[in-house]
Amino acid sequence: MDAIRVRGGKRLVGTIPVSGAKNAALPILCATLLSDGESTLRNVPALRDIDTTAALLEFMGRKVSCAPPVVTVGSRGPVRPEAPYEFVKQMRASVLVLGPLLARYGKVRVSLPGGCQIGTRPVDQHLKGLEALGATIQLSHGYIHAECGRLKGAEIVFDMPTVTGTENLMMAAALAKGRTTLVNCAEEPEVEELGRVLNKMGARVEGAGTHVMHIEGRDELDPFDHAVIPDRIEAGTYMVAAAMTRGDVLVDGAPLEHLEALVAKLKQAGVEVSREEGGVRVRVTDELRGVDVTTAPHPGFPTDMQAQLMTLMTLAKGKSVITETIFENRFMHVPELVRMGASIDVHGHTAVVTGVDSLEGASVMATDLRASASLVVAGLVASGETEVRRVYHLDRGYERMEAKLSRVGADIERVRGAEG
Ligand code: EPU
Repeated sequence: MDAIRVRGGKRLVGTIPVSGAKNAALPILCATLLSDGESTLRNVPALRDIDTTAALLEFMGRKVSCAPPVVTVGSRGPVRPEAPYEFVKQMRASVLVLGPLLARYGKVRVSLPGGCQIGTRPVDQHLKGLEALGATIQLSHGYIHAECGRLKGAEIVFDMPTVTGTENLMMAAALAKGRTTLVNCAEEPEVEELGRVLNKMGARVEGAGTHVMHIEGRDELDPFDHAVIPDRIEAGTYMVAAAMTRGDVLVDGAPLEHLEALVAKLKQAGVEVSREEGGVRVRVTDELRGVDVTTAPHPGFPTDMQAQLMTLMTLAKGKSVITETIFENRFMHVPELVRMGASIDVHGHTAVVTGVDSLEGASVMATDLRASASLVVAGLVASGETEVRRVYHLDRGYERMEAKLSRVGADIERVRGAEG
């Protein structure tokens, strides 16, 4: 198993390029199932989750060329509308094939994703929505079995905003007969991006990126050619890394308009953030102050940035109260940060961080993507050496993180075949 070894203490200076958004690319790749012709997706990040999606589409019988930053998907023959456990256990987002397969083929068998390290993560809202469009759904032996004739437009009110739930319903509604209204939708930029792609395919989606969406279904959809938006979470992670090392970094391609909640908190903490040609510049010249953060659906503070911001707060002056409201088990970085010398007390969904003067390098690991990233960020300033193990989590969502960080001065390397 690979590990990332960091020797802390180097100030990051220079430019870090941002890759395409993982969580936008995944649903768009699944949307290729809505049409027979060859679709092309550009600016796709080279990540393990993209490889898993490509392999799943191939398993189903699609013709896939996966050579990031370009991925093409077309038809080869009959499609097997099925996502087995072997794929879904590697990547929960495999559940995004449910909506398009059902709408297109009227029958689908997808493994239930089950829980993961960060929480139980049910898919009841996906299923409730598809039933409202006319599907019959049964759960047996760990699988979702769904069937339908032509789906019919309906009004669906989500109990809570769910990103992949909204996306699954958008894709299903795009081929349903008539008009679908989705209420209490997730407003994340990745949802808006999927709306853009569905419109390119000929669907009529209005309001993607807001809490109410109207979708006029079509009998058939066309293939598309599209370039994915930049990854706001990758960008945000490098903004925090720059601040952590009191560096001066241009995060090239960072989508400031998608990062407002993070930028507000960074500024409140004393980080200088400015829009520059092509990206966002982050500098720290003053002392950092603790800030309180509560995660929330977009446009609130993203749960996917909670671990990284908490890491920054470990060295800020005073106390920070960090509350996680989206996933019940997303503090896995806490014990590892404490092993590195941080002072953090967890009370239920709230972590109270008291700033310390320094962190110490250690061997650490995390079983969640963003938690792993936060440990690399901690290693950038910790004294001595930090080894972040089980890097395959990091490789699911960050394209060549060690290469990007070493280009701006970090002393960081990948160790192949390290202890797990
Ligand atoms: N929820 C339900 N029932 C459902 C669906 C969701 O109770 O049917 C609950 C969840 O348990 C959670 C909340 O609703 O408490 C929101 O979850 P959501 O469905 O929005 O999460 P997701 O779609 O499974 C996506 C991202 C995650 C990101 C979350 C929240 C993708 C592929 N994944 O997950 O990304 O944390 O939205 O923003 O888009 C990551 O990239 O590291 C990652 C975990």
